Amino acid sequence: MSLNLQAVGIDKSYDNNQVLQDCSWSFTEHGIYVLTGVNGCGKSTFLRICALLERPDKGEVRYLDGVHEAPDGMTLMRRITLVLPKAGLFNMSVSRNVSYGLRIRGISGRESNDRTDSVLEFTGLSHKKDQNALTLSSGEAQRVAMARALVIEPEVLFLDEPTASIDEKNTGIIENIILQLKQRGQTTVIMTTHDRVQAERVADRVLLLEGGKIVE
Ligand SMILES: Nc1ncnc2c1ncn2[C@@H]1O[C@H](COP(=O)(O)OP(=O)(O)O)[C@@H](O)[C@H]1O
Ligand SMILES: [Mg+2]
Repeated sequence: MSLNLQAVGIDKSYDNNQVLQDCSWSFTEHGIYVLTGVNGCGKSTFLRICALLERPDKGEVRYLDGVHEAPDGMTLMRRITLVLPKAGLFNMSVSRNVSYGLRIRGISGRESNDRTDSVLEFTGLSHKKDQNALTLSSGEAQRVAMARALVIEPEVLFLDEPTASIDEKNTGIIENIILQLKQRGQTTVIMTTHDRVQAERVADRVLLLEGGKIVE
């Protein structure tokens, strides 16, 4: 069963600065949604609210399993993940960074190793597995952040500017990871970028956030 997300009539202000105003969208199909818009238009705010990390002033974020509301709380939080641009990696090896999310969920031993290895391969990091994550280049670090999210096998993956301040080569690798997720068809990806060309390259659906709303 797939997890559907509906944002309904979201308002959000910070100190009298209204960022989102009656912002709604239904994310009902697996695939890659790319949210674009000028700097400061509210993309990151919208993602944090959808990922349940921040509350809207008004409106609702609903997760549905088919037609039924998904039970909220930890169970739901485990099915969705937000990857931020400056992901705080831990002072430990790449593979321990990636398996961390499995350890705190009580998954260890063979299963943890297999899942970690397979995600490291998927993100092109197998050769870096024993390196301390804090010594990676920013492009590699961003891939570790994505690997850390993917190992949990989220149904909805939020990526906030996944290629901001990253060179062309790593941008290409990250776009490929996103395109492979699209092919696997098991994850809904909702990502932001201010790069329209990138949006067209990876998206099933490009959305524009303008005037506090998704105008499509
Ligand atoms: N925690 C916060 N406190 C105050 N203002 C904020 C906060 N988060 C975001 N903003 C403001 O909200 C607006 C939208 O920010 P953001 O969602 O980060 O835009 P985008 O990701 O599209 O660049 C900006 O003007 C930003 O300064
Ligand atoms: Mg942003």
